[in-house]
Amino acid sequence: MRASILALPLLATLMITACKPEDAAPAAVKPAPAAAAPQQVDEHSYAEPQKVVVSDLALDLALDFDSKTLAGTAILTLDWKDKTATELRLDTRDLTIEKAEGDDGKGGWVPLKFRLAGIDPILGAKLTVETPKRNAKVRVTYRTSPKASGLQWMEPSMTEGKQLPFMYSQSQQIHARSWVPLQDTPSVRYTYSARIKSRPDVMVLMSADNDPNAVRDGDYTFRMPQKIPSYLMAIAAGDLKFQFISDRSGVWAEPTMLDRAVQEFADTEKMIVTAEGLYGRYRWERYDMLVLPPSFPYGGMENPRLTFLTPTVIVGDKSLVWLIAHELAHSWSGNLVTFSSAKDAWLNEGFTNYVENRIVEALYGRDQADMQSVIERNALKKEFAQIDPKLQVLATAPGVLADPDNDGSSATVYTKGAWLLHFLEERFGREKFDAFLRGYFDHFAFQSIDSEQFAQYAKANLLDKYPNIVSQSEFEEWLYKPGIPANAPHVQARRFGVVDSARLAWLGSRQLPPRVITDAWISQEWIHFIESLPDAMTIEQLAQLDAAYGFTGTPNAEIAERWYPLAINNGYTQANDAIADFLKRVGRIKLIAPTYQALVQTQGGLALATQVFEQAKPAYHPITIARIEAIIANARPPAEPSPVAQPATPPDADAAAAPAAGSAG
Ligand code: BES
Ligand code: ZN
Repeated sequence: MRASILALPLLATLMITACKPEDAAPAAVKPAPAAAAPQQVDEHSYAEPQKVVVSDLALDLALDFDSKTLAGTAILTLDWKDKTATELRLDTRDLTIEKAEGDDGKGGWVPLKFRLAGIDPILGAKLTVETPKRNAKVRVTYRTSPKASGLQWMEPSMTEGKQLPFMYSQSQQIHARSWVPLQDTPSVRYTYSARIKSRPDVMVLMSADNDPNAVRDGDYTFRMPQKIPSYLMAIAAGDLKFQFISDRSGVWAEPTMLDRAVQEFADTEKMIVTAEGLYGRYRWERYDMLVLPPSFPYGGMENPRLTFLTPTVIVGDKSLVWLIAHELAHSWSGNLVTFSSAKDAWLNEGFTNYVENRIVEALYGRDQADMQSVIERNALKKEFAQIDPKLQVLATAPGVLADPDNDGSSATVYTKGAWLLHFLEERFGREKFDAFLRGYFDHFAFQSIDSEQFAQYAKANLLDKYPNIVSQSEFEEWLYKPGIPANAPHVQARRFGVVDSARLAWLGSRQLPPRVITDAWISQEWIHFIESLPDAMTIEQLAQLDAAYGFTGTPNAEIAERWYPLAINNGYTQANDAIADFLKRVGRIKLIAPTYQALVQTQGGLALATQVFEQAKPAYHPITIARIEAIIANARPPAEPSPVAQPATPPDADAAAAPAAGSAG
């Protein structure tokens, strides 16, 4: 059983002393709105934005399902900061570069020398284009690899409709470089346009000005007039139809999914209106959503104007649509004000988690928002038990994040990040804090910033403006120290009281709660019920729950995510067929990684995991494949012959043996 959140280990003894440079700027009431200049270079990019910055990108690509490639040209418009620079350095991964040219200032193109460096397993290959004349534009002719890490190409048989092929991108964190040669760092923002040619029977969409009334003809043009960072570049193609939810919002999906999706997402316009009421006008014109195949490796991705979504969010009762609130919230936190490198990921995800919670509260009530917070904070506690204290800080130090896609610290980034904002809200009061946040989004709109810039802004516009409410050292503890500060506000979810009593009563008496109670439970209550069960359970106990609630084989993947590891850890092999089906049906990393993780730690489980993975692999996304391969490769054979209900198992034994399996998705 999980300890109460009040017993959160504060890790005070582990806290490393923060080595934060003193804020250079004096506490002016409002810092001058100078262009945000990130202090540090992005360690996950080869680009040199202090020398040259891409200000616009124009793509002209052929999208070919037979060869699984995008091929054509990328024209980069350049803003040379260093007038003595002689090279343009770009990020690439698995790209074939055919040609590099520079504009000659008279409307023509002249060849430029270029070289592609050796491949770094995380960063890809640096492309250096020689630009002794510092051309205003550089044109690169290239093609992608069929195994581009940021693209998934799917046969018709892998789609809902089974008639047409499907492809889509996932660029965050550093996969845009696998389909466009560019400065793949969020510190650089640019406008883009694209012309994409494809077979005429598929619809092509991008994170740009999609036309709800577009006709399929195989020739599509796009424009994104607002400056965005590279991780928000996105493309998808397939048998996609559109339906409006409101004037400015709607859903793209395969025809058979469309009606269900529109019903599930019916509250989207209300969410936009709520967010606008809090943080100012929605600045991206349309807000549409694209429902992807179940192999989508994440829950959602905030591609501007076109959120990408997992179909696993469609469960029929709107109980998982906080995911939409989350992706919509990124229209302010992330897309408007962007982290300048992955080590400040909390500026995107922590802020967004907070805004999401506010939207959920406004639309579905405080109870649901609180239940969500409690579930997340329990997960954060588990994460802290596993990860290096260096990863438990919001403003991580340079060199700490190896692979920005998989550092096992997502609860820190999301939940601790949001918790800091809940803390500030509690201390300053909603009125002042809401005004502060709204001012922050306006002040840094369309800029990329780091944690230091946020800290300076907060000092001037919150801490110093309303003195003696939060001290600088309290604030800095949140940003620069591991664990959760002792002054953190705690949230109780009223409705979990009922869930807890029901669980305890059942564990004591084998008497399940009356139907009238459980019939009213939504996903969050079921999640809490399962998460709070003891680690060691008997087959009879699991079977009784299963008979009553049908957890095994549940269509709700959030419930499956929690139930199957519990079943596996307790040798409840009756669930194996359903587990295999689940792992083959869903590719969302967050949902399936815990089940693979549990499987590889049991005797028969490793064989089952390996076998299911081989079958599921063709339908998985490259990012999912990499993650599951790592889980299987890191598998340690279990010490005991049978893992069945051993009361001696320490509560966090599962955590202790687990390699970093954290993920945003
Ligand atoms: N931007 C993230 C997805 C992401 C993060 C992709 C880091 C790659 C690297 C997205 O907004 C997100 O947070 N998705 C969550 C949704 C959830 C927290 C509501 C997910 O996919 O689970
Ligand atoms: Zn997010």
